[in-house]
Amino acid sequence: MTAQSSSKLHKATAFAPASAANVAIGFDILGFSVDVLGDKCTVTRTDKPGVTISGSSGVVKDIPRDPEKNTAGRALLAMQESIKPGFGFDAFIEKGIPLGSGLGGSAASAVAAVVAANALLDKPLTKLELLKFAMQGEAVSSGSLHVDNISPSLFGGLVLTVGIDNPRVKQIPVPNGIRAILVHPHLFLSTKAARGILKPDVKMSDFIWQTANLGGFISGCYTNDLDMIRASFEDVVIEKQRSQLIPGFDAVRAAAMANGALGCTISGAGPTMFAWSLDADAVKVRDAMVAAFQAAGKETDDWIVAISSTGACLVPG
Ligand code: HSE
Repeated sequence: MTAQSSSKLHKATAFAPASAANVAIGFDILGFSVDVLGDKCTVTRTDKPGVTISGSSGVVKDIPRDPEKNTAGRALLAMQESIKPGFGFDAFIEKGIPLGSGLGGSAASAVAAVVAANALLDKPLTKLELLKFAMQGEAVSSGSLHVDNISPSLFGGLVLTVGIDNPRVKQIPVPNGIRAILVHPHLFLSTKAARGILKPDVKMSDFIWQTANLGGFISGCYTNDLDMIRASFEDVVIEKQRSQLIPGFDAVRAAAMANGALGCTISGAGPTMFAWSLDADAVKVRDAMVAAFQAAGKETDDWIVAISSTGACLVPG
């Protein structure tokens, strides 16, 4: 990070963590951060207002250089259009999250970009203000405005977001000792495609069940009620439509549940799947999920994480 003065940085780098969206029962509104991997963005002041993308590195090659088509670029353009800082932004993106993995890679790039750019402003904005700009970036890749990856990546932890035009964000406590086990099969899944297959209507009985599960899950988190979390950790609307896109889905889920998971589902639009379990069960849940994916012919990466994070932050460049 190169400082011209304490309030007028020339360049800043931010890290934004990966995230698992939906969490079974909160489609488009709930997600948790996964801070063992993430994207970084270095934003440098340029004389001319506007946004340029000077390059990228990391696990994703060939990201779009046109800022309108780049999630970080679009988020920075939204910031420029709104606050007109009198100078421009150049972004260099370091991708740590595989594309099309269901781990919130596009959201993390957008979040890292706005957090880094914010450090260059004379009057930095709040995270809630940054959320709206990052949301515009996410829409470039998924084709719709939703914040269930953006909010946890920006704020950290298990995060519920209510509203789009005036979003309200709530960090929900996760009971002590819970671990998230994430297993990523080596397969690209487009978020747009995974949204495109969803039926536009929900049956009344499924709506009631899903609403009960969302209420149960969140109240279980607030009251440390693991039985309530286990009983309500089930998506009856989206998961059954998308599971066909993930080889071995049923076997992976069954393997996790048979080994003590509280729940197991798709991370975001997939193909990564995640389970929650108590710390003592996490390794056997992970091993069982990995074995089930292997039996379906898929190599994997995996992570076991505690769900606690401070979200996106400035880091040394
Ligand atoms: N809620 C979104 C979905 C997350 O499942 O389509 C992925 O962007």
